[in-house]
Amino acid sequence: MNVVILGSGRGSNAEAILQAQSAGQLGCATVVQILSDKPAAGILALGERFGVPASFLDPGPFKTKFDETGERRYVERIRSLAPDLVVLAGFMRILRPTFIDAFAGKIINLHPSLLPSFPGLDAIGQAWRRGVKVTGCTVHYVTAEVDGGPIIDQAVVRIEPKDTLESLEKKVHAAEHALLPAVVAALSSRA
Ligand code: GAR
Repeated sequence: MNVVILGSGRGSNAEAILQAQSAGQLGCATVVQILSDKPAAGILALGERFGVPASFLDPGPFKTKFDETGERRYVERIRSLAPDLVVLAGFMRILRPTFIDAFAGKIINLHPSLLPSFPGLDAIGQAWRRGVKVTGCTVHYVTAEVDGGPIIDQAVVRIEPKDTLESLEKKVHAAEHALLPAVVAALSSRA
């Protein structure tokens, strides 16, 4: 099962997937390409470390969405890789229906809250400020509704009295690093 990972940031979740792959714990999934919309993103350094092609791909002039040319560039490049799964691992850009339809049912996203609570940006901060006692992370299929597609799996994180925003962030990220590779492995066994 060919997996393409898209990310904009440090890439700790992509790293968790690649570590699982190295440990033989990713089922029959193989990461064939990492793409980033940010030329200096940490996620791109994983390519050399894990022997996976990793490259910046120009998304166009906007910060959080694609223009038509950028979108076409991504769709054509990803299509050329014949992916069975496209994993958004911290890809901070909204996908338009043309992109989503090009890989219908094959795009999954990781989000740092228990959706449908706290969609959108700064989900961990939103949960922290709301004072919930339980939060976590979600992997879901991507649809045109931002953070609204069918949920595949979730992991729960308890917010303890001793927690700070920083310690909560660490706990949610640790939960993500276990959840996302497990979901990829599970989907690969169904493919
Ligand atoms: C992760 O916490 C992921 O849930 C979040 O970005 C972070 C990426 O970290 N994604 C979103 O907020 C998407 N709405 P990473 O670059 O270290 O994997």
